[in-house]
Amino acid sequence: MEKLSRNTKEKLCLTHKRTRKKLKLLITKVKQFVSLIQIFLRVGAQNTKIIKSKKHFLNMDNSKVAVRETQSIGKGLLAIKNIKKGEVIADWTGGKVYEAESCTKLPTKEIADHAIQFEEHKWIDTEGIGRCSNHSCEPNCGIKGKFQVVTMRDIKKGEWCTWDYEMTEDSDWVMECKCGTSFCRKKIGAFKNMPKEIRKKYNGYISDWLKEKIKNNSPQTL
Ligand SMILES: C[S@@+](CC[C@H](N)C(=O)[O-])C[C@H]1O[C@@H](n2cnc3c(N)ncnc32)[C@H](O)[C@@H]1O
Ligand SMILES: [Zn+2]
Repeated sequence: MEKLSRNTKEKLCLTHKRTRKKLKLLITKVKQFVSLIQIFLRVGAQNTKIIKSKKHFLNMDNSKVAVRETQSIGKGLLAIKNIKKGEVIADWTGGKVYEAESCTKLPTKEIADHAIQFEEHKWIDTEGIGRCSNHSCEPNCGIKGKFQVVTMRDIKKGEWCTWDYEMTEDSDWVMECKCGTSFCRKKIGAFKNMPKEIRKKYNGYISDWLKEKIKNNSPQTL
């Protein structure tokens, strides 16, 4: 074999060194790229999780109902399709729970106006459309369980979906009602003030916690 000159040998060694250095650099870059991809995928997975849980939350809201501005009482829930009797309109399950001595002692009036009572000293708020459900003294929805708004009859597209706040509330919270129906009781707040004949009319649509309360306190009033 032909003997390489010292100069050529040195040149070859240098090229070899450079190639190794370049390779090392390339490997580092590839590693950095891979870890970047991993970070991206991890973040992506987290986002998907959040989106999924949000979607799950919204799944409890009936898609035949949309939040719309009313003429005089802020936002409300409008039926954008015909809805059958017994359908769930909105649900507070999984919402933020507040414990307080009374409703007016909740952290803010905004919370007091949007959270619903489900125990003597507990209220639950929601991120769902339930937050925009208005009261009517002649409602087309009622309560099932502790905090599920359900239609009490078939509802036609274009009707507002409303329920009676006294189906869940029995506290010091009071509201001047502007429902404008001939049945309007004007001051709405506590279930204990709900007339007997109206309680009868709502049979099956009063929150479970109130049914339990009546059973324990004064069964004759049910
Ligand atoms: C659960 S929120 C309903 C959504 C509310 N309209 C909004 O825009 O945020 C309850 C609040 O809506 C208003 N509201 C609902 N029904 C009402 C009614 N029949 N008369 C007067 N105000 C009403 C009151 O301000 C009440 O505290
Ligand atoms: Zn009213």
